[in-house]
Amino acid sequence: MVNVIKMNHVSYKYEKQNVLEDITLEVPKGAFLAIVGPNGSGKSTMLKLLLGLLRVQQGSIELFGQDIRSFKHSEKIGFVSQKANSFNTGFPATVFEVVLSGLSRKIGLFRLASKEERQKVLNVLDSVGMLEFRNKNIGELSGGQQQRVFIARALVSEPELIILDEPTVGVDAKNVQQFYDMLEELNKELHITLVLVTHDIGVISDKITHVACLNKHLHFHGDSRAFNALNENELSSIYGHEVQILHHHH
Ligand SMILES: Nc1ncnc2c1ncn2[C@@H]1O[C@H](COP(=O)(O)OP(=O)(O)OP(=O)(O)O)[C@@H](O)[C@H]1O
Ligand SMILES: [Mg+2]
Repeated sequence: MVNVIKMNHVSYKYEKQNVLEDITLEVPKGAFLAIVGPNGSGKSTMLKLLLGLLRVQQGSIELFGQDIRSFKHSEKIGFVSQKANSFNTGFPATVFEVVLSGLSRKIGLFRLASKEERQKVLNVLDSVGMLEFRNKNIGELSGGQQQRVFIARALVSEPELIILDEPTVGVDAKNVQQFYDMLEELNKELHITLVLVTHDIGVISDKITHVACLNKHLHFHGDSRAFNALNENELSSIYGHEVQILHHHH
């Protein structure tokens, strides 16, 4: 079985503060991995390393079997960032343009999109149920609608891996559920590997295949069955005082 991600004894520090220590983790193709951990535990830092936004200092990372330092296939990876849904109403881009920008690595920033590329954008907007909003300003959409657009943007380059950093912050409970249903479809039907940082572990426990509990160290990493078998004490020791968020079922 091919691993989409392989982290080997990865440590990372900003200035002098150690943020990640000795992380070893494999994500097999087709997995839906949830990364959980309290605020400041290094989750976003880990994703930034995977995305090549931060440089590996210690240890090594392989993506699709290739060392990240020579990895050239960024189109295989889609990203939905933690702050994606914070656009003001004045942000000057339409839904169509935002999604099209997901192809910019391929088409170049200033070249006009081809007919085929425009059609791709329309198809992917349709698949997330946002086609009718294509000419709206991104800032005029609700948080949940914006999230769909950012998923579409991540999807348009037909990635094999999508990395999402707390994508449902500011999205209401009903739309959170719909959003996760959509992720589940991407995973089960299109076989896209998903890595999701979330605090909603209770809501998605039936959709994910693997869980990683991060708090500087990797305190637990395994399939979701092994995670569900952890008892409360073990969870508390992994999570410290934030253990209650693991149990809020909606
Ligand atoms: N650019 C930076 N420079 C210096 N320190 C940073 C930087 N980014 C993050 N940190 C620190 O690294 C630690 C981990 O931050 P990180 O953003 O990875 O946490 P997180 O698990 O994503 O938290 P949250 O749940 O709040 O998003 C924190 O203590 C943070 O203050
Ligand atoms: Mg974060």
